[in-house]
Amino acid sequence: MAKRKPRTVSVVRPAESGAAKPVRYSRAEMTEVVLPNDANPLGNILGGRVMHLIDIAAAIAAHRHSNSYVVTASVDYVDFRNPIKVGELIILKSSVNRVFRTSMEVGVKVFSENVLTGERKHCSSAYVTFVALDAQGRPHPVPPLILETAEDRRRWREAAARRRIRLAHRYKRPHR
Ligand SMILES: CC(C)(COP(=O)(O)OP(=O)(O)OC[C@H]1O[C@@H](n2cnc3c(N)ncnc32)[C@H](O)[C@@H]1OP(=O)(O)O)[C@@H](O)C(=O)NCCC(=O)NCCS
Repeated sequence: MAKRKPRTVSVVRPAESGAAKPVRYSRAEMTEVVLPNDANPLGNILGGRVMHLIDIAAAIAAHRHSNSYVVTASVDYVDFRNPIKVGELIILKSSVNRVFRTSMEVGVKVFSENVLTGERKHCSSAYVTFVALDAQGRPHPVPPLILETAEDRRRWREAAARRRIRLAHRYKRPHR
């Protein structure tokens, strides 16, 4: 009889803090119609509007994972690969890539969808770091993340390099 492959689940424990949760528990998806009020004179959604939606979609995943208040500590990468036209749908998918002690990196992918053809395009990607705060507004530890899939593990690995870069930027800045 063929041997059954064991299901691999890695629990990554950064610290003392709440029960571990799988990445899928906090994953979020937001969909909106692009309206004329969101657009530039070319009829494409404004970059600032996309960034606002990215922050919200990412915050939902961070709130779900940590079950606490969160603040945006940094946004280290956003690109705009394809425009999204008025009348198209904008779809944002967010998930926690990695948790550290009190902070979490959330990845957001943005798609456009043409409602007439159903065609979807990948339009933006972003990485947003949130810090969980307690009732007094102090950073507090977030629950460990359970990695269940190869994709979860790839995102978790890649988040480490981005954290090194963003913290190097943070501590290089002179304090005024
Ligand atoms: C983010 C903030 C809470 C950090 O507070 P702090 O007193 O500097 O706290 P610490 O130095 O103890 O750092 C706490 C965590 O924030 C992380 N952090 C701080 N600045 C960061 C940055 N620029 N990028 C990524 N992570 C950052 C630290 O790495 C640490 O995470 P860890 O515990 O997982 O290692 C604080 O700077 C703040 O409140 N900023 C304003 C947030 C805000 O108003 N956002 C926009 C509106 S939501």
